[in-house]
Amino acid sequence: MFDYDAAFSRNLGWVTEAEQQQLRQKCIAIAGLGGVGGSHLLTLTRLGIGKFKLADFDTFDIPNFNRQAGAMMSTVGQPKAEVLARMAKDINPELKITSYPGGVDKSNLDAFLDGVDLYVDSLDFFAFEARRNMFAACAAKGIPAITAAPLGMGTAMLIFMPGGMTFEEYFRLDGHDEFEQGIRFLLGLAPARLHNAYLVDPSRIDLENRKGPSTGMACQLCAGVAATNALKILLKRGGIIAAPKGLHFDAYSNKLTQTCLRNGNQGVLQKLKIRIAKTMLSKRHQVMPDPKSVPASATPIEKVLDMARWAPSGDNTQVWRFELIDATSAWVHGHDTREHVVYDFEGRPSQIALGALLETIRIAASMQQLRVEIVQELPTPDTNNSSVSRFRIVLIKGESLQTDMLADYITSRSVQRRALTTTPLTELEKSTLEAAAGEHYQIKWQEGAPLLRRVAGLLFRSAQIRLTMPEAYEVHRSIIQWNSRYSQDKVPDQAIGMDPVGLKMMRWALQSWQRVKFLNRYLAGTWLPRIQLDLVPALKCAAHFALVAKKPATTLTDFVDAGAALQRIWLTATKLGLQMQPEMTPLIFSWYASSGVPLSKLHSINEQATAIQQQFSSLLGCEIASKSVFFARIGHGPQAQARSTRQDLSKLITK
Ligand SMILES: Cc1cc2nc3c(=O)[nH]c(=O)nc-3n(C[C@H](O)[C@H](O)[C@H](O)COP(=O)(O)O)c2cc1C
Repeated sequence: MFDYDAAFSRNLGWVTEAEQQQLRQKCIAIAGLGGVGGSHLLTLTRLGIGKFKLADFDTFDIPNFNRQAGAMMSTVGQPKAEVLARMAKDINPELKITSYPGGVDKSNLDAFLDGVDLYVDSLDFFAFEARRNMFAACAAKGIPAITAAPLGMGTAMLIFMPGGMTFEEYFRLDGHDEFEQGIRFLLGLAPARLHNAYLVDPSRIDLENRKGPSTGMACQLCAGVAATNALKILLKRGGIIAAPKGLHFDAYSNKLTQTCLRNGNQGVLQKLKIRIAKTMLSKRHQVMPDPKSVPASATPIEKVLDMARWAPSGDNTQVWRFELIDATSAWVHGHDTREHVVYDFEGRPSQIALGALLETIRIAASMQQLRVEIVQELPTPDTNNSSVSRFRIVLIKGESLQTDMLADYITSRSVQRRALTTTPLTELEKSTLEAAAGEHYQIKWQEGAPLLRRVAGLLFRSAQIRLTMPEAYEVHRSIIQWNSRYSQDKVPDQAIGMDPVGLKMMRWALQSWQRVKFLNRYLAGTWLPRIQLDLVPALKCAAHFALVAKKPATTLTDFVDAGAALQRIWLTATKLGLQMQPEMTPLIFSWYASSGVPLSKLHSINEQATAIQQQFSSLLGCEIASKSVFFARIGHGPQAQARSTRQDLSKLITK
């Protein structure tokens, strides 16, 4: 037999017996019984609330399973209002529930809120019109209203109390299209944006199609926070944080923030944030092109080259062209950019990229159970004077050849230029990466806070050269694709690692060398990019590392081999869930200084390059520094949300 007093006796202690009886008399309205609504209802039922008004016109479906309390195999296709009422009554058969299975609209809003002590908002995120009407009606009737939004793996709560700031005064949705209402609602709910840091795939936010990512954990947190505040409001306990103040707790980032938008979305800073979010979200709608650019009927060599073109190259220059010979063989023509790219010292970075390409060809071929024979064409002199090279690639049927485990990561490997976590690499992660480098290379790790700081200092000083050297200006100007998330033959501005304000400044400055000089001279122009692009990422990672050749690298073949080792390391890192970013400038400037080749026409820049070389040597030790062929940072963190893509294979094929 059901017994109310026994069923809710364990609430006593946190509430008194008299208060429990008060809760039993209260009526709460919940509109929406999907994501949070179901959890709200069940939590409030267990609190001992005696009456509910419930509204939802929807039925349960499979995509509701990750979060909605009533979504189960046994309820698919059933009305949400009916299922939840049944579940709640299973907990408290005495419950008085009035259901609105057709949902609420202007015609029944009055009736829905009649006799209600509190409204708990659970409408679909995108039901802006219905939500605005609901909150306006609550304000007019003097009913407190709580909204606890599930965001990421946390909850952002706002409470609108009678006589206080209203929903419309806070969010200012009036007069805006649905896309902007979505942005305003989100930024108003969660000004602290605690959930943003770990969103791994922003393309899943689809404001246009009213879809977004969600978690069951967030819904449970919402229910806990909302029911706690329901208790405080209904029992007049006080201590309510009401709009314009809000509370955001994020279980993932371990953060709790009390927010306050004194003027709601009308505030100056908030308006700016809304503008930036609008621009960014419209860019995010750019979708990643299909990683395959050849049809299923393509020849084996075309398929291999189509995968291999995803190998990395400095500034995404893709320093290779292909000449098909037949279905299983081709020429790879490598070139370098030393003539016009100051960073391509003696073509070494291009040769490293070429090595990465050849290694990727080997790995990609294994996907078709093919072995690769690679022969460098002679008589190309094996020195660093030649800026072109040619390799003959022949695919051969391999006896019981297995697909290389790294093949799965060829297209997902990408540079991450933003901050990573400082969680150190495990010994296993390090030894796996060292094994991937192969027997001819060692990895020299730079880890721990003091070393991270030293490397950060070195990169910060290198960046000073990079940003004030006239020779680099044209390079920077030509490699960035503005307003882009993806770029086939450049680096998209969103992958650079700068915030929108910094990017705007950089774009303005790069219009002319005069502007760069002006910024540098009068407005400390290099500080912002150096902090954002060099200092912060260098401090925010697990480690930096140098790839060190056991015998000094001098020839084209040496650097091509180093590139193959680099690609195996990078793919292995991707497999381990690690992110990487090459940090080649200190090494390249050291190469210039140690070989006596002037980096710039400016004497002061060459002096700085010599200083960088000395610091790089003292950091790694002279011998290690002189044998280093690559320098990078590494760590755990989200995958890059913007990246360079590649030119289609047809564009890379020469006749
Ligand atoms: C030899 C070489 C040098 C590179 N140097 C840098 C560097 O100094 N800084 C940087 O942020 N990225 C560097 N990169 C990364 C490239 O810019 C990146 O790989 C390229 O744009 C393609 O993008 P993806 O790796 O995301 O496919 C380098 C890559 C290679 C292969």
